[in-house]
Parts: sequence; C-alpha cells; structure tokens
Amino acid sequence: MAHNHEISGAIPLPATIFLKIVMSVINTREPLETNCFGTNLPSPFPDNYLYNGKCEDMLNHCIETNLKFDLIFTSPPYNLGKQYGNYNDKNSLDQYLIWQTEVISLCEKVIKSTGSICWQVGNSMRDGHIEPLDIYLVPIFNKLGFILRNRIIWHYGHGLHCKHRFSGRYETILWFTKSETYKFNIDPVRIPSKYPGKRHFKGPKKGELSGNPNGKNPEDVWFIPNIKHNHVEKTKHPCQFPVALVQRMLLATTNIGDAIFDPFAGACTTMAAATQFQRRAYGSEINSDYCEIGKNRIQQGAMGKLSYRDHLLPIA
Ligand SMILES: C[S@@+](CC[C@H](N)C(=O)[O-])C[C@H]1O[C@@H](n2cnc3c(N)ncnc32)[C@H](O)[C@@H]1O
Repeated sequence: MAHNHEISGAIPLPATIFLKIVMSVINTREPLETNCFGTNLPSPFPDNYLYNGKCEDMLNHCIETNLKFDLIFTSPPYNLGKQYGNYNDKNSLDQYLIWQTEVISLCEKVIKSTGSICWQVGNSMRDGHIEPLDIYLVPIFNKLGFILRNRIIWHYGHGLHCKHRFSGRYETILWFTKSETYKFNIDPVRIPSKYPGKRHFKGPKKGELSGNPNGKNPEDVWFIPNIKHNHVEKTKHPCQFPVALVQRMLLATTNIGDAIFDPFAGACTTMAAATQFQRRAYGSEINSDYCEIGKNRIQQGAMGKLSYRDHLLPIA
C-alpha cells in the first residue's frame, strides 16, 4: 500500500473542496510541449503523449520501447454501432471479443507489476436483448492472470426510456490488479460519512467518534452524473465518461508523477484527468477530430484549469 501527498483526508472534507478551488485559481502550471501530440510514435516517448492512431500500434511501440504504466483506465467501443467517424463499431460478439482479447493482451505487457487496469463498459445490444460486456470480459482478464478487485457499479440518472424492459441506468468499471502488491490510497477519495457525528455508545471507546472524521470509503456503487448536453464537460464526442470516474480511481491507485494510459482515448477524459492531477498522460485515439478536442482538454489539465465536475460534488 502506498501513500501520496494529495490534499488528503487529514483535512475535513469541506476544507478540502475549498482548498482545491483556491489552488486551481492560484495555479501557474505550464502547458505541455507540442511534441506531446502526433501521428508518429516517438522513441523514446516524451513524458506525456497522445497518439492519433490505433491503440494496437501504440501498445506495440510501448512494448518495444519498454514504456510501462501504473494505471490503464479506458472505455472501449461497446460494439453498439456508434458513429465514431472512422471505425466500424458493429461486429459479431465473437469477433468483438477476439479484438478485445488482442488489445487486453497487449495491455498486460505494458502494465507495471504493481499496476492496475480499469475497463469501463456497459451493455451491447443484439436483436432486442442485452449483452453485458463485463460478463464476457472478466474471463479474458482472469486468463491473463489479472486479479479482479472491484466490479464498480456506475449509476447515473439519465438515459433512454425503454418500452420492453427496464430502463438501463448503470454501467460498470472492472478494476483489476496485475499482482497482490498494488497501490490503494483511500484517504484522497474519502466521501462524507452518512452519520458524521455518530459515537460509540458502549465499550472502551464509548463517547468517541465511531467513524473516520475524514469521511468514509466511497464503496462500490458510485452515483455520478453521466455526460448529457448541459454537463460542464460535454464535448462533441458521442460517449464521453465523466472526469469524476477517472479522478476517484486515479487518486486511489496512483501517485503524483505516475504514468496513466488510455488506449481508446476519445475526447481524452482520462488523459485530461491525469494531467489535472499531475500524473503523466498517455493515450491513443484513431479519430483526429476527437484528438483535437482532447488535446485542448489535456492542456487545460496540465495548467490545472480543466473544467470538470468533482467527484465530491453532491447530486442536486
Ligand atoms: C467509448 S469511446 C471512449 C470515450 C472516452 N472515454 C471519453 O471520455 O471521451 C471509444 C473511442 O475509441 C476509439 N477507437 C476505436 N477503435 C480504436 C483503436 N483501434 N485505437 C484507438 N482508438 C480507437 C473511438 O474512435 C472512440 O473515440
């Protein structure tokens, strides 16, 4: 288990939020150099890099140049037929899983022995029935030796209204570690306790606070708004995930300066969260329009000026 030097649970939560706002105002961090973005694969990689190209190529290049990551956090296409611009997102489930196996196997080669992988997925759909992708993906990770630490339910309030089944309002984050030795920093991600003033009513600790005064473990069901049109993080990417998902996982499983990779970067939410929280950001994305959007967000993060909805903000 590791410790880091974030604004942490040693400070009461309201003060933590206040400090974050003050720090973002007084922050004078520099943007990244222009060599951090491109359609080429440099050797060695700079400290941060967004590759406009296929993740398979970037992963092979990481293997060749021995670049390893502390955390891979991604959301692959869901095989739903989404219009991403230059990618066919509708194959048979078997073909999709063969492709995912190929990418996950490459990821296994570039994750540090103390590292984590988070695969964020929902359901694919076929002829009116659902194909919950996590059910199919877990055995692929297990076969490669990964250890499942949590299957986090990401619950949100908005989506399609279904007529012939219950409306879907969650997706999952599969959190795997490569080994039994891994980072898990609970203090930077504590959330307010339900009963903060509750005290032991008997026994040797009678009268003392029974919970941690710095907040509680966020548990494995996360209620975080999804990105709809009025969300502060909305870009023209059709299926971004919110920064808060990455923020919570990144603060818990990495330290400042650690390297984070998103093979399916999209609008670069993972990379922008990484630079915002002073981690090194790597990613690949085949669509050049999304790379342009992502580049701006990564730069905002590098300067500590990313627009995002913090994971601690209460739901209205
Ligand atoms: C579900 S989206 C990721 C969205 C991202 N999490 C965000 O918040 O913006 C998946 C992305 O993978 C990209 N993609 C598909 N195949 C790819 C490949 N082989 N290599 C790199 N990117 C790919 C798509 O263009 C799409 O933007």
